[in-house]
Amino acid sequence: MPSDMAEVANICSLSPFPEGWYFIGTHRNLQKSEPYSAMWMGQKIVAWCNDHGDVCVAEAVCPHLGSDLSADAGARVVAGQLVCPFHGFEFDVTGQCVATPSDDPARSTKLRLFETRNIGGLIFAWWGFGGREPQWQLPHVPPNDGDWSDLALRTVRFPGHPQETSENSVDIAHLSYIHGYDNVTSDAPVSIEGPCLESRFGFATTRKIAKIGKLTLEVSAVARVIGLGYSYVEFRERSIGMDARLWVLATPIDGTLIDLTIVSSVRELREPKRPIAGLKFLPRQLRAPILNKFVADFQIRDVKQDVVIWSRKHYVPRPRLVRSDGEVMKYRAYCAQFYPEPGQCQSPAR
Ligand code: FES
Ligand SMILES: [Fe+2]
Repeated sequence: MPSDMAEVANICSLSPFPEGWYFIGTHRNLQKSEPYSAMWMGQKIVAWCNDHGDVCVAEAVCPHLGSDLSADAGARVVAGQLVCPFHGFEFDVTGQCVATPSDDPARSTKLRLFETRNIGGLIFAWWGFGGREPQWQLPHVPPNDGDWSDLALRTVRFPGHPQETSENSVDIAHLSYIHGYDNVTSDAPVSIEGPCLESRFGFATTRKIAKIGKLTLEVSAVARVIGLGYSYVEFRERSIGMDARLWVLATPIDGTLIDLTIVSSVRELREPKRPIAGLKFLPRQLRAPILNKFVADFQIRDVKQDVVIWSRKHYVPRPRLVRSDGEVMKYRAYCAQFYPEPGQCQSPAR
């Protein structure tokens, strides 16, 4: 076989649904009278909140006679209970059927649930192989003491895989080549502890902003990848003295498409270390929201540059790396824990 054909034979597909915590939506968006429903990890789910803000994420299939439990099919949230559109069975946030229009429901009439976590107002659900329990937890982020801007969210959908998107955290070389960053540095060896991988890096970048002018940022970043659906990045911009938080949340939809949601927040800027064109006349409380919009736009511009590559690339299990590629294979070894079933295509074909 010619060597290029041998390489093609080595290209295999990753299992589309690695085990982990995956983004559902913001807590605020779930507090509505219509349930939220979506394709998530290859199945249709429904999510809603009761009046106390408790969240339920469940398979969108009624255990009575199989109705779809999405708002599109007519399901509603009434007094915190999900009401099936077919015969009106009502479910509480524990998934238990608590009422029907006629008889008492059997205790066994329950929805199939996914365990949930609320991290800083972002709701995640656990997807385990064979429905098994969470094998690890997401860490809490430092609380918002009122000095952080509201979260800004942007979502892009494309054919991709969460392992490939998270690999960006250790792929230092692409930062200058694709995104045009200057002075890219790896500030510490990648460290791994269980499901948490930490990468520290720095860069500088100059962006044009309408009505503000050019803004040069000098950034130190700490990225924590905690499973393949959740990355949390703390940015420190040194020249202005701006702190930003960023979540990069990859969620498989149907085995081909993923949603990549970028969430950002900027800490209130009391005493900028240098003047920022156009911002000095703004009231202090407006600076963080405006900078957050800038950070969100900045990030989504970068993501769209990556999507051109991600949506067309193959997974190459035996990449031909050069020294400046960073610690890609260490990252790949870390990823193996999220495919606990055999035959998930983690080891190179031989
Ligand atoms: S199918 Fe849901 S109440 Fe009958
Ligand atoms: Fe990137």
